Amino acid sequence: MAKILGTGNTVLDTILTVPHHTKENQELRAINKKISTGGNTNNTLYVLSQLGHETSICTTLATDNEAKLLIMDLKKRQISTTHVQKIIQGQTPSSFITLNQENGHRTIIHYRDLPEVSFEHFAKITVEAFDWLHFEGRNIENLAGMLNIAKTFLTKQPISLEIEKSREGIEALFNQANLLIFSHHYATEQGFSDGEMLLKHIQASVPNAKLVCTWGEQGAWFADINQPIQYIKAEVIHPVIDTLGAGDTFNAALIHHLIQGDSLKESVKNANYFAAQKCKQFGLDNLLQKSITNKAIANIKQLSTAKTLVVNSKNHNQSIVLIKHQDGVKAYENNCPHQNVPLDEAYKIDINPFEKTMKCSVHDAYFQIEDGTCIEGPCWNESLTTVDITIDDIGDIYLK
Ligand code: FRU
Repeated sequence: MAKILGTGNTVLDTILTVPHHTKENQELRAINKKISTGGNTNNTLYVLSQLGHETSICTTLATDNEAKLLIMDLKKRQISTTHVQKIIQGQTPSSFITLNQENGHRTIIHYRDLPEVSFEHFAKITVEAFDWLHFEGRNIENLAGMLNIAKTFLTKQPISLEIEKSREGIEALFNQANLLIFSHHYATEQGFSDGEMLLKHIQASVPNAKLVCTWGEQGAWFADINQPIQYIKAEVIHPVIDTLGAGDTFNAALIHHLIQGDSLKESVKNANYFAAQKCKQFGLDNLLQKSITNKAIANIKQLSTAKTLVVNSKNHNQSIVLIKHQDGVKAYENNCPHQNVPLDEAYKIDINPFEKTMKCSVHDAYFQIEDGTCIEGPCWNESLTTVDITIDDIGDIYLK
């Protein structure tokens, strides 16, 4: 667990789920309306707090009623508000978001009438008390001084900077961070057609930072210090439910894995996976239930009634035998009760589709697929151990 300070935006999101996006002059009825807190840093910190970190936000908040909602929600998200800067003039920043039910894509209309965090406010924070500092690439005028302070007072704590949009002067700050996370919006605004081209360009002037460029459904490019640029494909997901905050989730998982000491490659891979899990659900609540701690062990499409699939999971100390049975799936520990050896130790597990049995390859014990009971062979009447699984609406199979 690490102490993480995030500096950036907190926004009130009004999210309307719509059957499709509208054109100008059209009228449309939304299917659902949800008010929620948002803003990149706030979202990233929320995911980090779900991952077990102690998070604190440095952001400005207005004094209107909407700001009260934001404070309540930050508390619920277990994000400390100690370093919030209250501003009397101005209103709570708002985003009006339409979420297309057909493909999970979102449009955001953002309204802002609130000053950004001042340099003086940030300068009062004891940054040395944190293990990681994350900054949203905005408020450039003050960000330069904030990064300067961070660089001066921190000895070994990493600094990450998210660059989502082109903002005048932002490039001059790149050398102040240890990890730069670019979005494809920034890359395209800069005239690059993929992440590799952008990172090549950045590497030339920023040799001492880890670089990552995310590209939505296409995946991500990354380069460690003095290392070649590599690419990782995005996870294929169907259906996509909600992409709002997927990038923020990616950033959180990336930071989390780097804190854990994983390589940049491993961290990007996990961040990709985590962002994909986010796209399969509405919002950011309870993200972990389906994520890193519980990866899908298989998808129902990989299974048949005629053969078994043997899979491994970090969360189960034995491999697992999966097979389709009637309308469902049967899952057993890959362990024959006769001599406690894997059923596929000598050869593959034979299936008899007529008798509905499967045979241990070592001493020919036959087990009923339906309940795992041995009906013939050296461990007659003993049983395979059932593994509890659940299957979600897209056929992904999880351990319970
Ligand atoms: C999602 C998000 C929303 C917010 C908007 C701000 O990444 O942070 O929660 O309204 O972007 O640009």
